[in-house]
Amino acid sequence: PVEERIADLLGRMTLEEKVGQMMQLDARSADLDELIVNKHVGSVLHTRPEDLPRVVEAVDTKTRLNIPVLIGDDCIHGYSFWPGATIFPEQLGMAVSWDPEKVQAAGRATAEEVAATGVHWTFSPVLCIARDTRWGRVGETFGEDPTLIGEMASAIVKGYQGGAKAGEPLPKDAVLACAKHFAGYSETQGGRDASEADLSHRKLESWFLPPFERVAKEGCGTFMLGYESIEGVPVTFNHWLLSEKLRGEWNYQGTLITDWDNVGRSVWEQHVKPDYTHAAADAVKAGNDLVMTTPQFYEGAIEAVRTGMLDEALIDDAVSRILALKFRLGLFEDPRLPDAERIKAVIGSDEHQRINLEVARESVALLKNNGALPFEPSAADGPKRIAVVGPLADDAQMQLGDWAGNSGQVDWMPDGHPREMIDTVLDGFKALVPEDWEVAYSRGANIVDLIPDPEGETFPDGQPRPKVGVSAAFDQALLDEAVENARRSDLIVAVVGDVMQMIGETCSTATLELLGGQNALIDALAAVARETGKPFVVVLMSSKPMVLPTSVIGTNGVVVDMAPAEGVSALLWAPSPGMKGGRAIAEIILGQTEPSGRLPITFPRHAGQLPVYYNQIRGQHGNRYADLTQDPAFAFGEGLSYTTFAYGEVVIDGADTPFATDGIVHASVTLANTGDRPGVEVVQAYVGDLVTSYSWTDRELKAFRRVELQPGESATIEFDIPVADCTIVDPDARRIVEPGEFELLIGHSSRREDLKRATFTVV
Ligand code: IFM
Repeated sequence: PVEERIADLLGRMTLEEKVGQMMQLDARSADLDELIVNKHVGSVLHTRPEDLPRVVEAVDTKTRLNIPVLIGDDCIHGYSFWPGATIFPEQLGMAVSWDPEKVQAAGRATAEEVAATGVHWTFSPVLCIARDTRWGRVGETFGEDPTLIGEMASAIVKGYQGGAKAGEPLPKDAVLACAKHFAGYSETQGGRDASEADLSHRKLESWFLPPFERVAKEGCGTFMLGYESIEGVPVTFNHWLLSEKLRGEWNYQGTLITDWDNVGRSVWEQHVKPDYTHAAADAVKAGNDLVMTTPQFYEGAIEAVRTGMLDEALIDDAVSRILALKFRLGLFEDPRLPDAERIKAVIGSDEHQRINLEVARESVALLKNNGALPFEPSAADGPKRIAVVGPLADDAQMQLGDWAGNSGQVDWMPDGHPREMIDTVLDGFKALVPEDWEVAYSRGANIVDLIPDPEGETFPDGQPRPKVGVSAAFDQALLDEAVENARRSDLIVAVVGDVMQMIGETCSTATLELLGGQNALIDALAAVARETGKPFVVVLMSSKPMVLPTSVIGTNGVVVDMAPAEGVSALLWAPSPGMKGGRAIAEIILGQTEPSGRLPITFPRHAGQLPVYYNQIRGQHGNRYADLTQDPAFAFGEGLSYTTFAYGEVVIDGADTPFATDGIVHASVTLANTGDRPGVEVVQAYVGDLVTSYSWTDRELKAFRRVELQPGESATIEFDIPVADCTIVDPDARRIVEPGEFELLIGHSSRREDLKRATFTVV
């Protein structure tokens, strides 16, 4: 049995060998082989493909006990580091699909590719709740709602781990998943990355912990900590969170890893530990197993044990959990080396690209349409000309987004992905329109100019952080050329969005406006559309919700400025939609695919509106701005189809009789496709507790279902909602169901006017 093998191995290890097992170092370190031999390093990350054999050989030939090295990497929406790997829409794009099956398929395909390359573990998914959209990592999340996040995370973990549950061996084509960043990392101050999180235990329990609890109980192999502090304690040292909550209450059997140099940062950055010995001791006592990229942990932990500051038994516990992972992967029998044949067969395979296109189609949300879409002129109208305009219309790299062969921080990844694997929006139109149509491209605007600032701040690896020049990005000649192109065309499509240097870790923004010449471009094209009546489609290809000009969304929310939306016929949002995203967008605009995405996150009208998430605490007197509307540009759950749907009334079985707290509320609603096209509706079920003893939100998503219906078709959609899920959290951070009256709201989005209502009582 594995337990015996672990005990046997542990009994033969020196303290130095055990502490080394707890270290994860950057595989790009020049002296890695030496570190593996002399410091017994048990895990590496960011292994460049060419480094893998070197790592394995060092273990095999030079270490005393031949304990395999665990290799982890950020394979976030595909295997970023491997040129030619399939890059899916980013996590927020996957969440737009509200389709756990597709997300699981994306996870499965990614795992097959990653496992073939010899990597054992992906640092994905992110389960953070995105509430401040200025945070640079919003695109890495599944959005703002704990239920949606839990569903999506559960699905992708199943995909990565090939369905293996806690403790079960992982199939050869599976990799360990990593739920991160535990917990509350996204609750930043002002959207700034890794700041102090203002989180009580009650708040954590209410929103931030439930998705983690779900995947912990479902057997997600590893958890990664956040960078932030909660109530003054960096999560790295938070015994309550790591040991009482996660391992104790949830009985989590997996392994915990810190984030990048969390242990070191407590000394050199946060100044909460006097030296590395204290930092190492306290990190182990709190419950950490693997320590990411803190080389000083080695001497620190050894010293802590030798001086009696740290009990070696705690090191043994951590090492046992690390060894258990290695046994789960079968690494002692098979080091899972890169497999040239499998690499050839699976990396970027046709089958994976097919799945990728399916996911991409669902990761696009249609947010506005005045009837101009789909653009399907009849053949009798003769050939058409489409102006495909904008800085992101043909930008293969930005379409892939962060963690995709490039990073906003430092260009330290390999050469990227072959251009021919990526279909930009321009490529999509060219491939899909009839032969006699014309597709004419104009860049139209720049986004930012980057000015290297050698005197300025540096990134963690010492590279200078570039200064970003914005104003210099406006270019009149580009704009004029795009306007001229638009005037000569029958359809104008502008693809705008954000830029790599403004997203990702440590790259939060103070504002959410489109940068550079992009607003001027949209306004100029809207003017052409108003003047000529031509349909004008804006495609927002951004990693997160952005603030759009009034020509797109009407008023920007400022009370004195009630500008109507003018000139823009339709708006699509595609959060970093991956290799096939451009094609998916063109298919939707041309009516070859029905739009089906829904918002997993609220779109603000103005950055000053934040926070603007839908499930805020209700009824706070004066909890609004005097100069900005509370109404978001687009609400959580919104998204249009080309057809229309009608909902019947919500029927709750046995609603006259009160439900017990362990009961199940069975509800149904009829849904009819009342339009003349097939379409997908995402039916959303929210529950509200009408009177709560403690302040609480008005409604929370409890379940949802994607339903495909043909024109004229109807269906009865059923939900079983356990009363036990209809909880609030009391001041002692306990989840409780309070007897009384509840409402069940079912419909199209989180907006009350989109929901049908029925009530039930709980005793
Ligand atoms: O996995 C990431 C994490 O999300 C942020 N810090 C660095 C880690 C390893 O690259």
